[in-house]
Amino acid sequence: MNFLYLEEIDSTNKYAKEHISELDDFTVIYTSKQTAGRGRFERKWTDTGKNNVYASIVLKPSKEIKEVYSNLTQYLCVILAEIFESYNITPQIKWPNDIRINGKKISGILAEAVFDKNEFQGIVLGFGVNLSSSKKDLEKIDQPSTSLFLETGMEIDKKVFLKMLTDKFCLRYNSFIEEGFLLIREDYLRRAEFLDKSVTIKVFDKEISGTAIDITENGALKLIDNNTTEHVLLIGDILWMKH
Ligand code: BTN
Repeated sequence: MNFLYLEEIDSTNKYAKEHISELDDFTVIYTSKQTAGRGRFERKWTDTGKNNVYASIVLKPSKEIKEVYSNLTQYLCVILAEIFESYNITPQIKWPNDIRINGKKISGILAEAVFDKNEFQGIVLGFGVNLSSSKKDLEKIDQPSTSLFLETGMEIDKKVFLKMLTDKFCLRYNSFIEEGFLLIREDYLRRAEFLDKSVTIKVFDKEISGTAIDITENGALKLIDNNTTEHVLLIGDILWMKH
């Protein structure tokens, strides 16, 4: 991996997308201050301090886009979970790719495919990790959140964390691109917070409620609603989950 550090930027994803033609495969853009971070579904990602991770990996695996690329967020999510476990905390995955510790979000992932005219240029895999945020920093966020520092009392440098993450990311990357979500399905399911729970999923402007029963071999969420109709959702967000 090549690392490109920017002292301050509006969004590392936006920067990576705009500069993708000049950036090599496996370049990590990261910053200490992100002024207009973006999350999934047009939400924002708030900057909660300079030693947090705001980063985007540029990936150029092929000339054509493939379905498996949409599962890269889940691949990264499992890697993040493994790293959190190495600090003796218990991460839980909230489908599709949020990580929470005791119901509080610690990291989020936003992948974007980049096209120039109609030609596929690559994937920008962006992620934010609360490494060092204090309770006060997190008050700015409108959902329960935590940080690695608050959970462990440890101050991990963001470059050290990023190096660990990208080393792990590279280990199974080629196999993942070949084999797809099945390679990590068990690792993902083991940490799934939502299985067998009543959930409400938002898919764009629609909401579906039911019981989350499984994750398919493509990483989609299988849900049974009150009329026992099965739904298989490839995209969406858990709005509500019964505890
Ligand atoms: C989410 O939870 O909705 C995804 C959040 C992704 C945030 C990261 S921070 C670095 C990168 N740049 C952005 O603008 N967003 C992602």
